[in-house]
Amino acid sequence: MNNKVYVWDPLVRFFHWTLVLTFIIAYLTGDEDNTLHIYSGYYILGLVALRILWGVIGTRYARFSHIIYSPSAVIDYLKGFIGMGSGKKYIGHNPAGGWMVIAMLISLLLTGLSGLKAYGIEGHGPLAQSSDNLVAPLKQGFIKVSTSDEDENDHEHDEEDEFWEEIHEFFANFTVLLVLLHIVGVFASSLKQRQNLVKSMWTGYKRE
Ligand code: HEM
Ligand code: HEM
Repeated sequence: MNNKVYVWDPLVRFFHWTLVLTFIIAYLTGDEDNTLHIYSGYYILGLVALRILWGVIGTRYARFSHIIYSPSAVIDYLKGFIGMGSGKKYIGHNPAGGWMVIAMLISLLLTGLSGLKAYGIEGHGPLAQSSDNLVAPLKQGFIKVSTSDEDENDHEHDEEDEFWEEIHEFFANFTVLLVLLHIVGVFASSLKQRQNLVKSMWTGYKRE
């Protein structure tokens, strides 16, 4: 059949393409502690929160009930690539792609939250604690008092900061790995289904 079906609502499409853009910006600006990095990171966290809500209350194919399939459905879909599956067709996400979506959302969330934590320890953002606010000017040398207690405090903060930065970096890179697999999956499924899934994510329509 060549019937066109409307699958991706405007929120899903807006979510996807602004996520692609801001993810690239956030990834490339990570090394310097710059405002663009922080704002693109906040934006991504907001997007992911909105997408999770939309997964519960959104349109038919955007809901988690159309994204999460059983392991046997995933295996059956993957077997299809070697000509062994049942050949069952899916209008929304296929079972393997669906789990990839969940993995990417979780990994993005962990990347954003660990970034927020690292930023908080540096004395900025919503997770900054009052003691961190005191440590920040101390670090910058605005307040000149130095006792061994404070030196120790400073040292602990540096270690904690480094720890969360490592976690943050790990999840940022892990997300990149998932995205690369996601892109391979999108092109493989496009070939299998003989349709342009990238175009569908732009127009909202898929062929039945
Ligand atoms: C979810 C999207 C995000 C991505 C892909 C991302 C990616 C990165 C990357 C690749 C680095 C460099 C790690 C390294 O080589 O050490 C980094 C550093 C950092 N990120 Fe993010 N990040 C994101 C969100 C956030 C958010 C929401 C915040 C805080 C509000 C944040 C705060 C930081 C901080 C404080 C650093 C350390 C910068 C420094 O070296 O001083 N990030 N991020
Ligand atoms: C330029 C490279 C990319 C292409 C061509 C692409 C393509 C697509 C396509 C075609 C879909 C729909 C899959 C389906 O029909 O079942 C999709 C969904 C998705 N992609 Fe991408 N993608 C790209 C980059 C990314 C990046 C960088 C991220 C995350 C950082 C991402 C996260 C997602 C998510 C979360 C969904 C699920 C959408 C939803 O249900 O709301 N993609 N992508």
